[in-house]
Amino acid sequence: MAVWTIVVAAGSGERFGGSKQLMPLGATRVIDLALAAARSVSDRVVVVVPPGVDWGLGAAIVVAGGATRSASVRAGLAAVPDDAEVVLVHDAARPLAAVDVFERVIDAVRSGADGAVPALPIADTVKQVRDGVVVATLPRDDLVTVQTPQAFRAAVLRAAHAAAPEGTDDAAVVEAAGGTVVVVTGAADNFKITTPADLQRAVALLATRGAAR
Ligand code: CTP
Ligand code: MG
Repeated sequence: MAVWTIVVAAGSGERFGGSKQLMPLGATRVIDLALAAARSVSDRVVVVVPPGVDWGLGAAIVVAGGATRSASVRAGLAAVPDDAEVVLVHDAARPLAAVDVFERVIDAVRSGADGAVPALPIADTVKQVRDGVVVATLPRDDLVTVQTPQAFRAAVLRAAHAAAPEGTDDAAVVEAAGGTVVVVTGAADNFKITTPADLQRAVALLATRGAAR
């Protein structure tokens, strides 16, 4: 089954305060680490970047993104050929996604799921709040947080995006279209770089790994 990965990197990093994708990390940059993992499990990789930039991304197919994450995913999908069978979507802002997480989502789709997402259990108690008042305590055992890479049967992802819906991840778009999305085990290290503190955490983690070698 031909596997293509779309790495979305066209965000402006408002909460970070700039282009977090380009920040140095280990011997390279945030985006290069995300791309390297994607390349190792994919037949081809499409990187979605802001219009008009040249970030020196080597052999990847590079396309310009849109105003929202979902629009950027669609820009990437337009560059994926019809013979791709499995399409992954990965955030450039998750540089520490390990290859085994990519393999787990791909395997789940190969085994028949419409989509698969890496998930982690929730440690804290979760409450629903309205106007500063708790209205419900949610049953934590039913809840997970999810990450990227997310894998999909290509035709399912294309159909789900056809009417240009918006979602904070692609699983939400596929779920809304009636697809079945399964969860696989995610990884605590696979956090998204959202703020400068997240980048510091990633830098420290890589330094520890280097020292352990
Ligand atoms: N992304 C994208 N196109 C957009 C918005 C987001 O390709 N129009 C990408 C980001 O580059 C990132 C991923 O989607 O790799 C997850 O988004 P997020 O962490 O929210 O990044 P930003 O949108 O850049 O950050 P912020 O929301 O703080 O502006
Ligand atoms: Mg964003």
